[in-house]
Amino acid sequence: MQRRDFLRYTGAGIAGLGGAGLLAGCSKEQPYMFWREGNYPPVSEQVTVTDLKVEGAIPPELSGLYVRNGPNEHTGPSDHFFGGDGMLHGLRLQNGKALWYRNRYVDTPVLREETGGMGPPKLADTSSAVSLIHHGGKLLSLGEFGYPYEIDPTDLATIGPYNYAGRLKTNMTAHPKVDPVSGELILFGYNVMEPYLTYMRANAAGEMVQVEPITTKGPSMMHDFAVTENYVIFMEMPIIFSMRLAVTGDGLPFRWDDSAPCRFGIMPRTGKDADVRWFDVPPCFIFHTMNAFEQGDEVVLDAARYEKLWVKDSHDFNHPAYLTRFTMNLTTGSVAVDRRDEQAMEFPQIHRGLWTRPYRYGYGLSAEESLGEMAYDGATGFMKFDMQLGSSERHDLASHFAPNEAFFVPTSKAEDEGYLLSYVYDRRDQKSALWILDANNIKAAPVAKVQLPVRVPQGFHGEWVDEEQLA
Ligand SMILES: [Fe+2]
Repeated sequence: MQRRDFLRYTGAGIAGLGGAGLLAGCSKEQPYMFWREGNYPPVSEQVTVTDLKVEGAIPPELSGLYVRNGPNEHTGPSDHFFGGDGMLHGLRLQNGKALWYRNRYVDTPVLREETGGMGPPKLADTSSAVSLIHHGGKLLSLGEFGYPYEIDPTDLATIGPYNYAGRLKTNMTAHPKVDPVSGELILFGYNVMEPYLTYMRANAAGEMVQVEPITTKGPSMMHDFAVTENYVIFMEMPIIFSMRLAVTGDGLPFRWDDSAPCRFGIMPRTGKDADVRWFDVPPCFIFHTMNAFEQGDEVVLDAARYEKLWVKDSHDFNHPAYLTRFTMNLTTGSVAVDRRDEQAMEFPQIHRGLWTRPYRYGYGLSAEESLGEMAYDGATGFMKFDMQLGSSERHDLASHFAPNEAFFVPTSKAEDEGYLLSYVYDRRDQKSALWILDANNIKAAPVAKVQLPVRVPQGFHGEWVDEEQLA
């Protein structure tokens, strides 16, 4: 196996891990590489556009930067949907105007093809193609593995790899959480070699204050986790790294393994390995959690749950995910699993000011599903969930539109006062637009569409950086 392939598949390339079901292809003997068609292939140009046409009115309180990450392999369509060099797509909004759109590669050694040499991949050797987080005054691009990359939010230029003053000595994954009260960043990394899991915390200033190796039973894929006010929840699920598959170059070397455990580990946020308490849960896989919180003796986790995934190979995306609530009782040790909505969905989001705390509203993308299988290009629209009432609303899109993650930007203290931002591709003219939806009325037409003269390939996760954070 070539070094670049190893990086792509086991480090750099286990990139997006986002919305598998929404992005599904048909499962045939030969895997259908849906990411080589439609709006998935990479774009070839890095552009800056300042003369942007706007339909409707951009809310003036929505001033800041929306930026989204996703794979954009510089050598052409990759061998796996999650493979590809990270590309950032940013739209700067200010006082009701769209100032600019830029797309920029995250400038990594993988992009520059400077990853030669012997030995295991270096932590800087990542494609950084999954998500972003703004924390401690820095905008960081995140991949599944390796270091984050610091990004200049004024022009999306890559400043360089970021390792928390040398305290980050292992992988950092793409879904850290910010405690809305303390400002602390709670993060983890997983690895295909021991220690398979490392838990970390950084304070509000961005200083790493805790690094804790955690014992698991094997090299399980852990794309996301969840955090409550006092606990962290690790998800050890039965998609397992296989060195045999890695050395034979078999796609992405992770597979469903019926013999592997499926369990959630709950640990006090300031705890250690010995403090982890594991709760067995029915077999499943989860890419993305929506939120978690505590109520009495219970820890509650909401997530997009797949019954199975990647059974035959890692092209096996034909499985729907459903919003599911897991309730772990810390006194009795019981676990309850409760599907909260019958509409297949992915890319769960909430008001991030309620991360780790009780909340009511969630958002996501709806997915087309038939007989338990997903449709190609299956993202059909936007969803809003009322977790108190157990109800949901859908904004269905015409079939020529393909939405991406809808990111909630709050505009007041009320939980659902704000806007959903999503890059939506139009198959008719093969261009994209940033749609701005009123989160209080998601069924209504977008309050604004910022039309782009280019397309934004289907990708993964975004971040919002407020005006004052840009100053
Ligand atoms: Fe993700």
